Amino acid sequence: MDEFDLDDELPTPVGELALQTIAMPANTNANGDIFAGWLLSQMDLAAAIAALKVTSGRVTTVAVGEMAFLTPVHVGAVVSCYAEVKEVGRSSIRISVEVWIGHRITHEPTKVTEGEFIFVAIDDAGRTRRIS
Ligand SMILES: CC(C)(COP(=O)(O)OP(=O)(O)OC[C@H]1O[C@@H](n2cnc3c(N)ncnc32)[C@H](O)[C@@H]1OP(=O)(O)O)[C@@H](O)C(=O)NCCC(=O)NCCS
Repeated sequence: MDEFDLDDELPTPVGELALQTIAMPANTNANGDIFAGWLLSQMDLAAAIAALKVTSGRVTTVAVGEMAFLTPVHVGAVVSCYAEVKEVGRSSIRISVEVWIGHRITHEPTKVTEGEFIFVAIDDAGRTRRIS
């Protein structure tokens, strides 16, 4: 797994906008903030969308890289997931996903987290297949 840097100073997201949604009350944890597992599933979906563009067929998540959450996500935040294909292997594809929201007070784009998702192209029987 390559290194990734949560302290980068890029003011803008890296990658293509793959998924955008709104954080809803149903997705909160016991503190009233958005549950990390929900955010993770949005990232998984965003990575899957990027993977499907390359593999044109069924894919599955085989691994997820290390992640840290830099700022809480509040109900009502517009959550944007940006995905970038980093590497395409025989059957696998490595995708970096960044999550950004508008800051609640300043509305400035704010990075929430980033992570790497590895997908594998599979056939109807769930066996790996070559990416064409
Ligand atoms: C995906 C799956 C079919 C792969 O089967 P496998 O026997 O591990 O296949 P391989 O060992 O040939 O690996 C396939 C590719 O994935 C890569 N890979 C496998 N495990 C990996 C890991 N932990 N990290 C990074 N890459 C990995 C391999 O390097 C290989 O890449 P390449 O073909 O581009 O060289 C199988 O592991 C599986 O079905 N896993 C469950 C997936 C799933 O249900 N995901 C959702 C969970 S809720």
